[in-house]
Amino acid sequence: QIQIPLLTILAYLIGSVPFGLLLAKTQGKDIRKLGSGNIGATNVLRCLGKPLGITCFVLDVLKGFLPAFLFPNIGNCGAEFGILFGAAAILGHNFPIFLKFKGGKGVATSAGVLFGVAPMAVVAGLLVWVIVLKVSGYVSLGSIIAALAVALIGWIRVDHYGVVTAAALTLLAALSIYRHRANIQRLIAGTENKFEKKKKS
Ligand code: G3P
Repeated sequence: QIQIPLLTILAYLIGSVPFGLLLAKTQGKDIRKLGSGNIGATNVLRCLGKPLGITCFVLDVLKGFLPAFLFPNIGNCGAEFGILFGAAAILGHNFPIFLKFKGGKGVATSAGVLFGVAPMAVVAGLLVWVIVLKVSGYVSLGSIIAALAVALIGWIRVDHYGVVTAAALTLLAALSIYRHRANIQRLIAGTENKFEKKKKS
């Protein structure tokens, strides 16, 4: 089936579209030079305000959701391929061809993928993310612990998701944690900024 490789590449290209960077450009700003320097919705919200931050979040979620949810139908290859197309979109966001492979952390795009392939896991992950953010004040810590929680849920409900999806959720959690390595260093050093305090223009 030639469609599967083509759809995988298309998912990667969709994931590569750096909405955070493009939205910041509409304000004449380079998001890579503001706040944490990340192109994701958290940094857009932090540096450019809620409307652009929320817009970026929605678009980054859709980058993951659409390939994961729609492409298996288009390719006529079964829903279990959703995680493959979704992973390609996440890799696109994290390593975008349009930005010399220097992209984001894939949290919103991963949430979109999960909405497509494991909606209950994303609801649980979102709950964990909100609780950790509220208690600690760190978005990054919320993202890291939510990624671990989703991977755990994949294995707890392996009867429901299957081994391939559970293993994929673990790999995606590992990728997300790897992409947060600078945040982890700052958390350990006590220099990670609390979300509310980290405002720059
Ligand atoms: O979604 C990314 C978030 O976990 C951390 O973002 O900008 O604080 O590095 P940032």
